[in-house]
Amino acid sequence: MVFERFLMTTRIGILTTGGDCSGLNSVIRGAYLRTRALGYSLVGIKRGFRGLACNDVLCPDCVELDDTICDEEMLIKSGSILLSDTKWMSSEVQKGRTVEDVKKSIIDGYRQLELDGLICVGGDGSLKLLNELTANSDTLKFVFVPKTIDNDVNYTDYAVGFQTSVKVAVEAIENIRSTAKSHERTMVIEVMGRDAGFIALYAGLASGADVILVPEFKYDLEKIKEKIQTNFQSGKNHCIIVVAESVESDDFKHSERKVNGFVKYTHISYKGIGHHLSQQIKEAGFECRSVTLGHIQRGGETCISDRLLGTMFGVEAVNLIANGTFGKILAFSENRIKLIDVREAVERVNKTLSMNDKYVQLAKDLGVYVGEI
Ligand code: F6P
Repeated sequence: MVFERFLMTTRIGILTTGGDCSGLNSVIRGAYLRTRALGYSLVGIKRGFRGLACNDVLCPDCVELDDTICDEEMLIKSGSILLSDTKWMSSEVQKGRTVEDVKKSIIDGYRQLELDGLICVGGDGSLKLLNELTANSDTLKFVFVPKTIDNDVNYTDYAVGFQTSVKVAVEAIENIRSTAKSHERTMVIEVMGRDAGFIALYAGLASGADVILVPEFKYDLEKIKEKIQTNFQSGKNHCIIVVAESVESDDFKHSERKVNGFVKYTHISYKGIGHHLSQQIKEAGFECRSVTLGHIQRGGETCISDRLLGTMFGVEAVNLIANGTFGKILAFSENRIKLIDVREAVERVNKTLSMNDKYVQLAKDLGVYVGEI
């Protein structure tokens, strides 16, 4: 290992953090092929920051990527070959370590791996952490690739994983529609998305939903009942309602999930709005069932757009490190790759829907009920 290190000009690390999604393996493969072309080495760090913090170049959490690992199957397979541990940071704190101590072990791990740069494929939480880790120290040098099925990362039209999750949700809704028709029912389908309604909106539009509820806009139950009524009166014998998991109403609120009082590096777990809404619809006298799609939205065969986006981001991340450019978020917007400075971006990293969004307008023009502000 030490001998190899002398032969290598540049050594790059790559890790995946946060909730997994499709397209992560495309990023890893893209980065690997580019490092190979440049004669560099790419170290895959398993379990995200936990793997980086283990401080040992020979530890089982680090693997030198090669042709046998990074084959073409990587383009298709969801998940991450490098795994992702979302609970490590909070569990270390629960064990009694300070946040500062945990952060120090990440920096130490980076130093001991003798990396010339790190590619972090993550979501908003990891971006904020990296910003904090590098605020007062230039030891850790990184490039950030945005991934999340929620698509709630600003500056980029699409984060890696979003488009496959929409594809999976659309396929599921199409299956649900056939049974909705046979039984002349209303079906409520709860989709993921955390605090943003992108999955609900895109999947709802692409599957022809009648009602799409997103956390950004309040809804009126009476309007939903009217929509169901109108559907049946006009000869359509069913109704499809897509609701994002974090939607709330006056009589349905989510509660914050705290792990021993520690919430900073964890997040609220949303569930139940689909079931709640379906109960209300039943109480109004309509035949109704609810389905929660859940984690199937994080799997499935990676769609072409995520394969291409992931590969492009992986290659570009290596190019940036090769040029000595660090502290950037890769974004894809106006049909080209853009670089966003992490320091500028971090405070406004989350994006949500607005009434001006082109697809919100499209839904309204189609007569789909999307609620209102
Ligand atoms: O952020 C991605 C996401 O899938 C959200 O849409 C969802 O709320 C959350 O992660 C689920 O997280 P977990 O896997 O911890 O249940």
